[in-house]
Amino acid sequence: MKTDGNASTVKEDVLILAIESSCDETAAAVVRNGREVLSNVISSQIDLHTLYGGVVPELASRKHIEKIDQVIAEALAEASVSLEDITAVGVTYGPGLVGALLVGVAEAKAIAFARRLPLVGVHHIEGHICANFIEHKELKPPFLCLVVSGGHTHLVKMEDYGKFEILGRTRDDAAGEAFDKVARAVGLGYPGGPKIDRVAKEGNPQAIAFPQAHIDGCPYDFSFSGLKSAVLNYLNHAQMMGQEVKQADVAASFQSAAVEALVSRAMMAVDEFGAKQIVLAGGVACNSALRREMEAACLAHGCRLYYPSPVFCTDNAAMIGVAAYYEYQNGVRAGWDLNAAPNLKLGERQPTEEKLR
Ligand code: KG4
Ligand code: ZN
Repeated sequence: MKTDGNASTVKEDVLILAIESSCDETAAAVVRNGREVLSNVISSQIDLHTLYGGVVPELASRKHIEKIDQVIAEALAEASVSLEDITAVGVTYGPGLVGALLVGVAEAKAIAFARRLPLVGVHHIEGHICANFIEHKELKPPFLCLVVSGGHTHLVKMEDYGKFEILGRTRDDAAGEAFDKVARAVGLGYPGGPKIDRVAKEGNPQAIAFPQAHIDGCPYDFSFSGLKSAVLNYLNHAQMMGQEVKQADVAASFQSAAVEALVSRAMMAVDEFGAKQIVLAGGVACNSALRREMEAACLAHGCRLYYPSPVFCTDNAAMIGVAAYYEYQNGVRAGWDLNAAPNLKLGERQPTEEKLR
């Protein structure tokens, strides 16, 4: 560090300025030594996209451009640091919406280039997983991780910092996507996950038996499109027959089936690998039924469960700062040719990233 902008920072501190713009949140954060969040600023575009019932990619990119400078300035101010104090810039470069990712990547490159700072590209899902390190200081890999977000559903082994093995993934819809689509179908609107969660509390989870999908030969893979279609069929059938639909019962029964699909696979992995720790990550990790069922199952299977506070479950830049810190410590640096990688796989790196300057 070059100056002492924040009275409590010391020379050896590693301060990451982190940027996240992969979907509909423009976010920046300052993270100290990988575990301490000095600031976490999020500008949500939910109001904008609610008008259209979902995220409109072109509008998301434009809004990111409008907001990003202001969000970064706020993150630095809230952390009481200046760019002089920053050790490295971390940015989400995939997966996500290409236009949205490009805004964050271009901004991070510009700051790093102008300030001669190292640049670290971060995988968005790695960020979600690393969100668990913020509040659980004792947590260290190896552990299992159930990643459940709007775009991804993965069962992963985090073997070490920056080292992942994917055990299973969704074959179609992500868990959050299924929550959002079902919410729309039952008239709850966007974003659906939190609304289903709330309404389900008033309903009977056993009212309707929705099906569970199992993929032959791939016990850890998920499929949510069959469950979503079953809910749509149920609603259409009820409408044709002129039957009353109890919104809360549909929400509770759907949520119960989705949670059961997630918990059963997670526990199968806990048993197979003798895991002593498992973490939840991603927006759906906010879900109260998922947390409750995972707590109960983990107790029965002798495994400790961790999950982040809601603000660190949904998209934020603090989690990107944590992941960037561990990548930085592992010597990972991005080149100036870092590009948005909308379909980036977990554990996959752009060739330039391994190159030390
Ligand atoms: O991780 P995230 O912010 O964005 C992605 O990376 O996709 O996750 C957003 C997803 C949305 O699908 C949203 O409906 C879902 O997380 N979500 C929830 C809850 N809160 C957010 N799903 C179920 N229950 C919740 N309480
Ligand atoms: Zn996310």
